[in-house]
Amino acid sequence: MSRHVLVLSGPNLAALGSREPEVYGTLTLADVGEQVAALAGELGTGVELRQTDDEAELVGWLHEAARSGWDVVLNPAAFTHYSYAVRDACAHLVGTGSRLVEVHLSNPAARESFRHTSVVAGVATGTIAGFGARSYLLALQALAALPERS
Ligand code: DQA
Repeated sequence: MSRHVLVLSGPNLAALGSREPEVYGTLTLADVGEQVAALAGELGTGVELRQTDDEAELVGWLHEAARSGWDVVLNPAAFTHYSYAVRDACAHLVGTGSRLVEVHLSNPAARESFRHTSVVAGVATGTIAGFGARSYLLALQALAALPERS
């Protein structure tokens, strides 16, 4: 099975670039996507980027990744802090043998206390936070460094 990574972004991340730039930076999600695609090309990884504000759609994409044997880079955005539905879908994904990297542009641990809890972290393969758009790139590199699934 060749390596394929689904890069998923949750609610409000379509507004990246204009949304609280002092927190999230000035790059748009399309800019991040270009950087991710360029790195994926270098790494020889297939990559697909998607964004949704909809919890059900996000859960559906995680199930699709589980069925397809894809690894996932996920920025769950606000769902990070309260969505047990997203967490359960992530647990199912990882249970099938896919790897899941939780990413955040900001460092939620250094922000408001409601952001200190991630209901996803406990089922993720690992978490990368606080490096702006580079968090996505580091996640892709982390996955590429893991052995391929057989
Ligand atoms: C975020 C952090 C979350 O707390 C927030 O709700 C987001 C973005 C990040 O990338 O830093 O929407 O996931």
